[in-house]
Amino acid sequence: MTNTIAILDYGSQYSQLIARRVRDQRVYCELFPWDAPQEKVEAIHPAGYILSGGPPSVYAENAPTLPDYVLQSGLPVLGICYGMHLLAHTLGGMVAPAGEREYGPAEIETLTDNLILPPGRQPVWMSHGDRIETLPDGFTTLARSSNCPVAAFGNESKRIYGVQFHPEVRHTPGGAELLRRFALEVCQVNPEWIPDSIIQHSVARIRAQAGGEHVLSAISGGVDSSVATALVQRALGDQLSAVFVDTGMMRKGERRQVEEAFRESLGDRLAVVDAAEIFLGKLAGVTEPEVKRRIIGETFIRVFEAQALKAGKPRFLVQGTIYPDVIESSAPDRAKAQTIKTHHNVGGLPSDLSFELIEPLRYLFKDEVRAVGEALGLPPALVWRQPFPGPGLAVRCLGEITAARLETLRQADDIFTTELTEAGLLGKNSGEAGVAQAFAVLLPVRSVGVMGDQRTYREAIALRAVTSSDFMTADWARLPMDLLARTANRIVNEVPGVNRVTYDITSKPPATIEWE
Ligand code: XMP
Repeated sequence: MTNTIAILDYGSQYSQLIARRVRDQRVYCELFPWDAPQEKVEAIHPAGYILSGGPPSVYAENAPTLPDYVLQSGLPVLGICYGMHLLAHTLGGMVAPAGEREYGPAEIETLTDNLILPPGRQPVWMSHGDRIETLPDGFTTLARSSNCPVAAFGNESKRIYGVQFHPEVRHTPGGAELLRRFALEVCQVNPEWIPDSIIQHSVARIRAQAGGEHVLSAISGGVDSSVATALVQRALGDQLSAVFVDTGMMRKGERRQVEEAFRESLGDRLAVVDAAEIFLGKLAGVTEPEVKRRIIGETFIRVFEAQALKAGKPRFLVQGTIYPDVIESSAPDRAKAQTIKTHHNVGGLPSDLSFELIEPLRYLFKDEVRAVGEALGLPPALVWRQPFPGPGLAVRCLGEITAARLETLRQADDIFTTELTEAGLLGKNSGEAGVAQAFAVLLPVRSVGVMGDQRTYREAIALRAVTSSDFMTADWARLPMDLLARTANRIVNEVPGVNRVTYDITSKPPATIEWE
């Protein structure tokens, strides 16, 4: 592959965002730890390098350095924040503490014509403790701010640039344009990372890995496993079999949706396993959240194993790992230390059930996965499905899980999501105002009500709707009052067993998105 950019990660919390923003320009890029082996980085044939932000000072003991091969390549380089300091430091300039740490919005002014910044002033987001005091030979100051005499520098003939601010964050509105200019004009890559080429690329890779072999896919009903399955189907045709385990913990209509999306292309090679009774049996009487999760995880593996054996235990298993999962797991210091919730997915298969993995989405961000799903013709309801936890409705059915309580929850949840979708607040076109995730939770609490002169004593539904960009933090969605009123009214009237509806107004943290 050519037309790519390599990003060396120096540990900034924004590193993943840089990759995200470069991909927005339809340019393929990958994020590597700054000390990754040279061959690994060069394997993507980069047309340029971006150095991310990172720790406070290039003078600190054991501070990460700039690998020699970057400058030796003669390719364009863009250093961001720490990356800029590293360029200055390595090339013979001087970096020093800025007196005061500068964090937050600032305005920069372009001083000379250059390839990466437009003329005039623009708002940017700063976050640094050091700054450039002396430029390396051959470099000029491209922009300054009132606090920072060298807000951007460059050497246009060497095509090396540094910026003190963060072009990758939304608070730098001109940041996308800067990255576009660097990628397309300085590195001169063709913006060819579009769904059709992603599909072509993946199909070729899947064929190279597993051509001629029998492959199994576990469809969960979610976006990732659906798109991964559709890609493998495109690449390998009837070598693929798929399994969908209906745990009985799915939302309303989800099983039908999966069958509709895949039955035509897979025919008999799609096995839909109705395992609701097995799961309910194992969960009987269990109320503790972590125990529920463990039982569901284990039961899933057993049901899946039986199915895999039935399918002749293929050598390969399709897994819908996406790029943010890969980045997170390769950056140990950024990974969460404490287990808040035991997440369940097929990655946790025991060693006696081992497969070689095919991970066609391994280098894709979520919105790229969706674009590919649309290009492959998957139905919008699947492609734009909101995230859904592995244990499904089990973690939204607080207290004991029974078929009747699950049905109550399913009905309430369907009313809520239908109302949100009809109001344009959920799904593809919901935009900035949209809700990232919304669902109903059934509480094991009964309260007294009155309906048609009759006393009622029934359970309560809590509605949860959050806005979030990464699901690591979230805020409760400020939903229109009339929508909440209509939803509550419909739930109490249409769902037997419920006489009270509340709306959850806690953010994450301190709460989590799911209730268990
Ligand atoms: P929390 O509740 O931890 O959820 O704030 C963050 C996001 O993760 C989803 N979630 C899960 N996803 N398996 C998954 O694949 C799980 O076990 C699981 N538990 C929570 C949750 O829906 C939210 O989007």
